[in-house]
Amino acid sequence: MNTLKGLLLAGGTGSRLRPLTYTGAKQLIPVANRPILFYAIDAMVTAGITEIGVIIGDTGQEVKNALGDGNQFGCHFTFIPQEAPLGLAHAVKVAHNFLSDSPFLMFLGDNLLRGGLNRLAQRFRDGHYAASILLTEVDNPSQFGVAVVEDGRVVRLIEKPTDPPSRLALVGAYCFAPRIHEAIERLTPSWRGEYEITDAIQSLIDDALPVDATLVEGWWKDTGRPEDVLEANRLVLEDLQTRRQGVVDNESRIEGRVAIEESAEIRRSTIRGPVSIAAHAVVEDSYIGPYTSIGPGVRILHTEIENSVVLSDSQITGVRDRIDQSLIGRGVTVQGIRSRPRAVHLILGDQSQVDL
Ligand code: DAU
Repeated sequence: MNTLKGLLLAGGTGSRLRPLTYTGAKQLIPVANRPILFYAIDAMVTAGITEIGVIIGDTGQEVKNALGDGNQFGCHFTFIPQEAPLGLAHAVKVAHNFLSDSPFLMFLGDNLLRGGLNRLAQRFRDGHYAASILLTEVDNPSQFGVAVVEDGRVVRLIEKPTDPPSRLALVGAYCFAPRIHEAIERLTPSWRGEYEITDAIQSLIDDALPVDATLVEGWWKDTGRPEDVLEANRLVLEDLQTRRQGVVDNESRIEGRVAIEESAEIRRSTIRGPVSIAAHAVVEDSYIGPYTSIGPGVRILHTEIENSVVLSDSQITGVRDRIDQSLIGRGVTVQGIRSRPRAVHLILGDQSQVDL
């Protein structure tokens, strides 16, 4: 078989992650201080895929800047602009020139797979399949593509069904033989106006072509919503390795697995891991609790925070209540009021969420 090419999807709008995605690509939101997209690239390269097409949309320039030419990941990128997010099958269509007649592995840039892509790629390489897909059981199947499996074979696939026939969701990782392009040519838009890859795979099944499906090993996370980003951060921090590059004074306590990057400074504070603290962050007179990622250049002063993600260059000072389960964007200021009256003063972007 020809070598597998990679197709990584980093377009789309990220509407469910607003306001964070007003100013940036959703695939570049960091978990454990690394963009989600980087984990996807690592997984592809580890599965032996080094020729990778990256679908980009409105946030294309930002994605290009973050990824470079691929050298830092040990692969080569070809950036493929998609004029509008018209669906996953549409993304394959605009990548047809790049993919040519190669088999390929497609991965959604906002998905995280603990077990990586090796097993999926290996099954596809070893078999003679028109497609290989990954499935996993979920509690909310109507938010995904859903599969009906009978006697170990996929018999039906439906995108975002209102009345799901099973709890088996399609994970955003697929392998395809070049025959998929023909199936895509025949597609019409779905009820949500998108060219669905799910419908294209269904048409392979209708044509009695072999479609392989396996269950995911380990966790899988689609990071479409803010609570998913927090959960992904928690899952990735479970595997965090201790690192101590920054400066910790002797009035501070570091417990558990904590990564402190270069030029970060911790003073008179307690950090209870797993916690990731990025370069140039400053933590003073504060408590950083488990499952928290503090981004580069962030300042946390006189504050308690846990189970949270803070992106770059934000400042959180003197907040009275413990901050919990929070996703805080770039350059945000959160400040406790010390004097009376203790009114709440807010300057929030569109579609922000504050629970007081
Ligand atoms: O996460 C798994 C689910 O992903 C599957 O269960 C569904 O069957 C599949 O359709 C897909 O559903 P989503 O609605 O979650 O896909 P979303 O629109 O979030 O797009 C997934 C990624 O692909 C995201 O990183 C944006 C990118 N994308 C999306 C579209 C529609 C593109 O680059 N171009 C596009 O046209």
